[in-house]
Amino acid sequence: MTTQPDRIIIFDTTLRDGEQSPGASLNGEEKLTIARQLARLGVDVIEAGFPYASPGDFEAVQKIAELVGVEGGPTICGLARATRADIEAAAKALKPAAKGRIHTFIATSDIHLEYKLKKTRPEVVAIAEEMVAYAKSFVDDVEFSPEDAGRSDPEFLYEVLTKAIAAGATTINIPDTVGYTTPGEFGAIIRGIKENVPNIDDAIISVHGHNDLGLAVANFLEAVKNGARQLECTINGIGERAGNAALEELVMALHVRRQYFNPFLGRPADSQESLTNIDTRQIYKTSRLVSNLTGMFVQPNKAIVGANAFAHESGIHQDGVLKHKQTYEIMDAQSIGLTDNQIVLGKLSGRHAFASRLKELGFDLSDTELNNAFLKFKTVADKKKEVTDWDLESIVNAEIQQP
Ligand code: KIV
Ligand code: ZN
Repeated sequence: MTTQPDRIIIFDTTLRDGEQSPGASLNGEEKLTIARQLARLGVDVIEAGFPYASPGDFEAVQKIAELVGVEGGPTICGLARATRADIEAAAKALKPAAKGRIHTFIATSDIHLEYKLKKTRPEVVAIAEEMVAYAKSFVDDVEFSPEDAGRSDPEFLYEVLTKAIAAGATTINIPDTVGYTTPGEFGAIIRGIKENVPNIDDAIISVHGHNDLGLAVANFLEAVKNGARQLECTINGIGERAGNAALEELVMALHVRRQYFNPFLGRPADSQESLTNIDTRQIYKTSRLVSNLTGMFVQPNKAIVGANAFAHESGIHQDGVLKHKQTYEIMDAQSIGLTDNQIVLGKLSGRHAFASRLKELGFDLSDTELNNAFLKFKTVADKKKEVTDWDLESIVNAEIQQP
């Protein structure tokens, strides 16, 4: 019986699945820089790469295992197809890590068996069993994934998972490889596994999902409610095709809504204890680093880390947050490592936001000066999308200098 964690394990795959994003490529030094930052962020497991894929990936995993996978640091994981050569390469690259994990996988959906693997179900079960046992001969910590689990026959899935756990898998990861499932369906898959895999308590249930329909985060939250205790995710949600579940969205959903999720982890609803080991104040910095090094731009309206995520544009909202932040904010900008929220001054801004920004800039205007300056500000705002501090200073300086 494996002791189930009392927190959600965050498994970051930015350096493996994330690097599979079209257009993203990282050299060894850049991977190491990201891995160090992931350790500061507090992720539990770093999937550092796919050692058999190339000599460069092998070296990067080995370096990360040596320099980041130190005592007290995160577990370092390497991906391996269910073949001896892949598993041997992963084992060798992970050797320097204090805690190393081999993650091996084979597809289980009929479409993959027929067209990609050209194997029968009994053959796939035998390979999974044999390769998990082989990985176990190198490390204690073995993760097994039935690729395309989201489209696999549930009965076959139960059989493969039962055998993989019996062969030594300590984490069984359920991938929605093509981002096909909906939250209710994905939650039901996890519940079905809990109820029908007899030795399931000997392993931790993990989930991995792609964003082809934009549902990966929602699917994972349903999975948590049904017993998943490890989430595989990437910074900024980068990854194959439409990407993976975004770490920052999952972590902040579990943080902001912890009272909702607490009971699913067997905690009192009002417990304030964190549901993950993540230091949320490192989120923004990590997002910027990954964006800069991969060259993958973060859309402005991206949840949590987009440039507009803490910016207020309309006058009604600006007035509300200046009176009380929680009128239009469900989390503090500081909680993800920003200095503050942002009031964007433009044509929709009201007098309250205008006066408040002038005060921050050090101007102390009389009522008449303020009225006149506000009228000028509205004229400028009609011509420009955003009125900058520099614009404000020119407006006010001209106003104050009036005889
Ligand atoms: O999407 C997927 O199925 C994967 C596996 C290797 C876990 O990335
Ligand atoms: Zn994937």
